[in-house]
Amino acid sequence: MKIAIGNDHAAVEMKLAIKAHLEGRGIEVADMGTGSSESCDYPVYGERVGRAVASGEADLGIAICGTGVGISMAANKVKGIRACVCSEPCTARLSRMHNNSNVLAFGARIIGVEMAKMITDAWLDAEYEGGRHQRRVDQLTEIENR
Ligand code: RB5
Repeated sequence: MKIAIGNDHAAVEMKLAIKAHLEGRGIEVADMGTGSSESCDYPVYGERVGRAVASGEADLGIAICGTGVGISMAANKVKGIRACVCSEPCTARLSRMHNNSNVLAFGARIIGVEMAKMITDAWLDAEYEGGRHQRRVDQLTEIENR
């Protein structure tokens, strides 16, 4: 399992904590930046995470900015990406089970590191259920293709 992780300046410390958490779980991490707390633009890093996942370079992605909103919007512009912003574990878990989310986003200015770890674990430990959900996920892909 390889996870691409990317963030803007608002989330450098959060990214490092989640990166260490993932590595502690034996997961390979591809760090897409930024490593600097100088002001930068979240679309750059959201797109990087999205492209890494869409190309198959990474299995899943994690994108973090101040709120998680901007960077998830950027990742969702990449074809094949289903990114969701989560502030608690239940939504993260259901986004995997029902929506087959492939990028998890959260906000470093919204939640603390311990909550981010719990959200990450809930997301990683859940499995896509397929079945009735596949029709709806296929419809998301159809929207992209229109
Ligand atoms: C940066 O100040 C902030 O706007 C960004 O991290 C994010 O919250 C945007 O959605």
